[in-house]
Amino acid sequence: MERPIVLFGGTGQIGRELRLQLAAWWPVLAPPRDQVNLTRPEEVTTYLRLARPALIVNAAAFTDVDGAENDATTAMTVNGHFTLMLAEEAFDRNIGLVHFSTDLVFDGWRGQTPSPYRESDAPNPLNVYGHSMLRGESAIRYTDPPHLIFRTSRVYGLRGSNFLMDLVALAGSHDDINVVADQIGSPTWSRAIAIAVSSILKDLDAPRSPDGIRERSGIYHLAATGEVSWFGFAELILDQAVASRYVELTPDRRPTLRAIQSDSYPFRAPRPIYTALSSRSAQKAFGVGLPAWQEQLETCLRSQPA
Ligand SMILES: NC(=O)c1ccc[n+]([C@@H]2O[C@H](COP(=O)([O-])OP(=O)(O)OC[C@H]3O[C@@H](n4cnc5c(N)ncnc54)[C@H](OP(=O)(O)O)[C@@H]3O)[C@@H](O)[C@H]2O)c1
Repeated sequence: MERPIVLFGGTGQIGRELRLQLAAWWPVLAPPRDQVNLTRPEEVTTYLRLARPALIVNAAAFTDVDGAENDATTAMTVNGHFTLMLAEEAFDRNIGLVHFSTDLVFDGWRGQTPSPYRESDAPNPLNVYGHSMLRGESAIRYTDPPHLIFRTSRVYGLRGSNFLMDLVALAGSHDDINVVADQIGSPTWSRAIAIAVSSILKDLDAPRSPDGIRERSGIYHLAATGEVSWFGFAELILDQAVASRYVELTPDRRPTLRAIQSDSYPFRAPRPIYTALSSRSAQKAFGVGLPAWQEQLETCLRSQPA
């Protein structure tokens, strides 16, 4: 029998989608939190010893950006220490490790005419979450198993907690909604990420051999093409949601969006003002590119939730 892909974070936004994509071509084990709590190292090592993975995929993280400011210990444990443990396991077993990271490793200061961040740009996180994720990246790069780290941005989908779902919920009960207009990024559909990563791993034959991953080891940006503010994203969500069967909005029952500045919104964690990502390296290395954010949103709103 084939040794499985072990996927951590299989109940999350990206993980749920990735599990479905990967399971279409390789056996996948995705232990939920009550089976393996990532803050308990002994549970992780015991699980990996019994599962004997051919490839480890980590879509798990402590992703509560504001919550991390109050619980830095757990954020560092899950995003830093647990990731280091996976890197060591992958190194010792000589198997590939696929990991996700974030645009929030950057500080957003790109000058008057910003251009999307490249992998060669220096990280400088502004908040605890960004620091913890950077620690995870560094642990993998230092340990250096065969690895692919995909940094993505502003993930949304029709399940879980994300900007799209929050806005749609608010739209059902509010006439006016304040939305931050001075933070620019690349909103990316969880399914688009999962399809791209699954196809990369399949093309590299990653569970059979770590060589394809080893040859391309490194960090890759993987986000929607284009950039938009939260406000601009919210406007298109409401426009398209009216046409979608999942959201009960009609043209005459549509809330008014009000553009506000970050400093008038009570974020606990500071946010960078610009984090658009250039995915050109992933396109070059793997021949995959994610569609424009507008196209992804439209496809998402017409899709079935996973
Ligand atoms: N969301 C974004 O906007 C965004 C943007 C850029 C990058 N990313 C990165 O993309 C990756 C996936 O993000 P996502 O939005 O899909 O995450 P998510 O929906 O918040 O899911 C996180 C996953 O991690 C699991 N997890 C967290 N702590 C755990 C623990 N102590 N023990 C066991 N499982 C635990 C969760 O399990 P439970 O279901 O049991 O909680 C869940 O399966 C992360 O690396 C994130 O940093 C996300």
